[in-house]
Formats: sequence, structure tokens, C-alpha cells
Amino acid sequence: MTIRIAPSLLSADFARLADEIEDVARAGADLLHLDLMDGHFVPNLTFGPPIVQSLARRSSIALDAHLMVTNPDSLIADLAAAPVARISVHVEACHHLQRTLQSIRDAGAEAGVAINPATALALLEESLDWIDFVLVMSVNPGFGGQAFLAQSLDKIRRLRAMLGEGSMDISVDGGVDHTNAGALVTAGATTLIAGSAVFGCDDRGAAIDRIRTAASDGGTR
Ligand code: DX5
Ligand code: ZN
Repeated sequence: MTIRIAPSLLSADFARLADEIEDVARAGADLLHLDLMDGHFVPNLTFGPPIVQSLARRSSIALDAHLMVTNPDSLIADLAAAPVARISVHVEACHHLQRTLQSIRDAGAEAGVAINPATALALLEESLDWIDFVLVMSVNPGFGGQAFLAQSLDKIRRLRAMLGEGSMDISVDGGVDHTNAGALVTAGATTLIAGSAVFGCDDRGAAIDRIRTAASDGGTR
């Protein structure tokens, strides 16, 4: 399966967002990951649909919105209209997960479920028919630059077994860099989301290449 690299804009220079997007697009990023935080579901605040709509006008690569908010349903229509290609909601935030996923699909985006490190995969089991991708958090959400939780590898392995080989995308988010990319792909991840490992380097092309090379060296899939 093709491995995609998705830089997370959370670690970019927020005063130069359009330039930062252009830089990673030119550097070969496959998707642009956007972290929406509400200061409630996670202890941090970022941006909402109006900024995403402006970013969409400046981005040549598809947008991937990760909603770390208590009420994701209220954002879906405006994000899909931006447009963003993929929207993930946290299983921990959704009282009616199937309804939320269906509304993402109805709005024209791919529907993803994000899952925190301490949350059991069993919570996804009944909803697989409505899920287009799973986003496994390999840190507790809220901030960039945190250390990768190594337990995530086994969780991804178990999730891949649950989903079946070569089928659904598994995205991994948090502490991803060239040192763990190979093991993540071997475990079954197919989209690598990286914030500080990409935007923390002056040469974003070299950073993305390093992750991609590590992913293909490690990946036998
Ligand atoms: C964390 C966000 C991540 C974050 C990753 O809550 O969901 O997308 O930007 O940043 P790094 O790669 O620095 O851990
Ligand atoms: Zn994220």
C-alpha cells in the first residue's frame, strides 16, 4: 500500500501559514494535516472553519482535518465546504458516532475516527462500516513535539489485524519521525502525520524524504 506523509500545520509558523503550506507542498507532502482544538476536549486552542477555508484556497494538496473538540458535529458542514478531503472525529467525543460519521460522508468528505492512547480499539468494532480511516494517536492529543508512545505499535498491529490487510487507511499521529516510521509502517500504518519532525527542520524536503525513506525501508507491506 502507498505510504502517505502528512505534515501537521500545528508546528508551522502561524504568522506565515500560506508560505508554510506552499513549502511542504513543494517538498512532496501528500496531505496537509490540520489540528482543530477547542480548549475543552484538549487543553489547547488552534483555529476553526474560517481559517481552514482560507487555507484551503492556498493549498495545492488535500486537507485532513483532525477535530479535537467536544462538539465536532457543529463543524462538519463548514469544513467539508472548505473543502477538506478528510475529517476525523474522536471516538471519545462522539455520543452518536455512527450518525456523526454518516454526516461527514454525506457532506462529501472521508470519515475518520481518532482514538486516544488509553482508549480500547473495541470501541470501533461496531462502526467499521461507516469508517473510511482510523487515526491512532501515539501521544495524548493537544500539543506538538511530545514523545512517541511505543505502545502505539502494538495497537496499530492489532488494529490492522482487526481491519484486514491492505484495506483501510491507518493514520498515526504524534511523535512520528524517521526513527519510528519504519516500525509504524511494518505494524500497519499507511499515513504518517508529522508536525515537529517536518516543520521543525529548515529543509522540509529533506525532512519528508527522511521519513519516507525510513518508511519504505521498514515497510514490507
Ligand atoms: C497533537 C496533534 C498532532 C501534532 C503532532 O495533538 O494531533 O497532529 O501536530 O505533532 P508532532 O508530530 O510534533 O508530535
Ligand atoms: Zn493531529
